[in-house]
Amino acid sequence: MRVLITGSSGQIGTNVGLALLKRGDQVQGIDLRPNTWTSELPTIECDLAKCAPGELPAVGRFDAVLHLAAHAKVFELVEHPERALENVQVSFTVLEYCRRNETPVVFGSSREVYGDIHRHITDESQADFVVAESPYSASKIAGEAFIYSYAQCYNLPYLVFRFSNVYGRYDCDIAHLERVIPLFIRRIAAGEQIVVFGPEKVLDFTYVDDCVDGVLRGLDALVAGRISRSTINLACGQGSTLVDVVNLISLALRKEARARYEPTRSGEVTHYVADITQARQLLGYQPQTPLTAGIPRGIEWQRETGVLADL
Ligand SMILES: NC(=O)c1ccc[n+]([C@@H]2O[C@H](COP(=O)([O-])OP(=O)(O)OC[C@H]3O[C@@H](n4cnc5c(N)ncnc54)[C@H](O)[C@@H]3O)[C@@H](O)[C@H]2O)c1
Repeated sequence: MRVLITGSSGQIGTNVGLALLKRGDQVQGIDLRPNTWTSELPTIECDLAKCAPGELPAVGRFDAVLHLAAHAKVFELVEHPERALENVQVSFTVLEYCRRNETPVVFGSSREVYGDIHRHITDESQADFVVAESPYSASKIAGEAFIYSYAQCYNLPYLVFRFSNVYGRYDCDIAHLERVIPLFIRRIAAGEQIVVFGPEKVLDFTYVDDCVDGVLRGLDALVAGRISRSTINLACGQGSTLVDVVNLISLALRKEARARYEPTRSGEVTHYVADITQARQLLGYQPQTPLTAGIPRGIEWQRETGVLADL
């Protein structure tokens, strides 16, 4: 199949793009920035926020668009809410492209659409949009809402994935995006202090290979027409606290963590464990890697690629 990936230089885009190429599919990427991990992914450098709706620079027809481009850092968007609006504009531009070219869309949404689930509700039907926790959540809710309206009015086939804390490979470009696991790995390895915002937070961490497996299964099902209007939690289905994360990293690195604990920051989700029944039933998805196995693997990958070599 031919897949157009927006946000192809990012963590999920790079991992999925390379996996598609590996199994013989064709990929065209679009991103603001070049891909700093690999030269294998053909990438058109373009700010999608500056494209007219429906006008993407890609040439030819695609079997699906995997729309991942977004400003993806929750706290950054609390400080710069205009970037959340840009996310919505970009999603609109991409959706218009899909409508005009009759191309199914897979959208990279987030568990953030559930808000802060103090109530511990996790299946897909329970998203309650009056509890949008942050401008980032609002941008994902808006993206989803446009997709559902395009399905209603223009019969656009879609698959929305609600991702949750993906980690393990191509995720440690700290200058681009500070993700909690790679940040803690780097700091603990360097003997530096870490600040844990909300040590009691329970989150669902998804090992990258499980995420890639789910996305490929979803793309295949959508392109084959086995699904056409689905919204699916893609996660591990297990909750872990940030203290668990710190302890597992510390154990894998054989280094004691120097941690300072602070309250959760504004806009952050404090409890999320995904119900992955739909992913299992619709896609045959079966996550293989719990956090206890994924953290050592992520550290191993960082060592092999030299990211931790100097520490
Ligand atoms: N990784 C996760 O744990 C996670 C969790 C929930 C949701 N998501 C969502 O999944 C998608 C992919 O996540 P990721 O971790 O790969 O993010 P990422 O930040 O690594 O990648 C996103 C990419 O989008 C690009 N981009 C942003 N604005 C753009 C624009 N205007 N034009 C062109 N490119 C633009 C960025 O340059 C970046 O390379 C994002 O939409 C994110 O919000 C990810």
